[in-house]
Amino acid sequence: MIKYNFKFVTIFFILILSFKPLQSAEMVDPIKVNWSFKGLTGTFDRASLQRGFQVYKEVCASCHSMQYLSYRNLGEPGGPEFSEQEVKAIAASFEIEDGPDSQGEMFTRPGRPSDKFKNPYPNVQAAAAANGGAYPPDMSVLVKARKGGANYIYSVLVGYEDPPSGVVLDDGVYYNKYMVGNKIKMPNNLSDGLVEYADGTISTVDQMARDVTTFLAWAAEPELEERHKTGVKVIIYLILLTILVYLSMKKIWSRIDTEI
Ligand code: HEC
Repeated sequence: MIKYNFKFVTIFFILILSFKPLQSAEMVDPIKVNWSFKGLTGTFDRASLQRGFQVYKEVCASCHSMQYLSYRNLGEPGGPEFSEQEVKAIAASFEIEDGPDSQGEMFTRPGRPSDKFKNPYPNVQAAAAANGGAYPPDMSVLVKARKGGANYIYSVLVGYEDPPSGVVLDDGVYYNKYMVGNKIKMPNNLSDGLVEYADGTISTVDQMARDVTTFLAWAAEPELEERHKTGVKVIIYLILLTILVYLSMKKIWSRIDTEI
């Protein structure tokens, strides 16, 4: 009787497990990338962060805003760590609207390190209207906002494919393996050699996708390296404490041991 029940339970579980893939047929698990910033002691690769910013600036910034970032953040410790001169030059390369002046007029001026990243569109409606009705989401915290995080963002960037036969796409809709429902209103923006990296790295699609994702991961969690450092310290402290407590426990009970 017990044996029979066991078999029954096993078959039941096999049935449940085999149904799971059917439920999530449309979702493909994102590619697992071996990021330098993962794990307990992970840190951001500075060179990759700098290249990632270059990709953002030259490719993504024409559609996606990063409203929580200021140019000066690019020079702060824990981030791309551009030099002060570089940060000034980066900021100055953007035309920022300011004002009103004494005549009540708005005017433009070169950006300063304290300015927020320039928004490509004046408002959400304008952004959606320019992109076939789909709003390019703000990328300041996108890595945190999407299930799968950095792996997912990377996967979307490299996941463009020709649609399988039978799938018809409207104008301005593209087939992407990793997007929910496989349809995305963002064109494939990356192609080999698109960006000329300042450090001479060869800009394959894979390289650009990795770099820009690393940059976005930092933007979403600029305190990551600090957090990892604290985590390691806490673990060392806890190990020492455990040893200390163990030794004092031994000492306290040692008398009782000998009396028995
Ligand atoms: C031509 C404009 C345009 C450019 C350039 C562009 N995007 Fe997008 N992006 C969009 C639009 C529009 C959407 C919304 C797509 C949708 O909801 O179907 C989007 C969505 C996304 C998403 C979100 C997918 C999701 O889960 O909602 C990611 C990630 C993304 N873009 C990353 C990037 C990166 C990184 C770059 C630079 C390499 C970039 N995009 C360049 C227009 C653009």
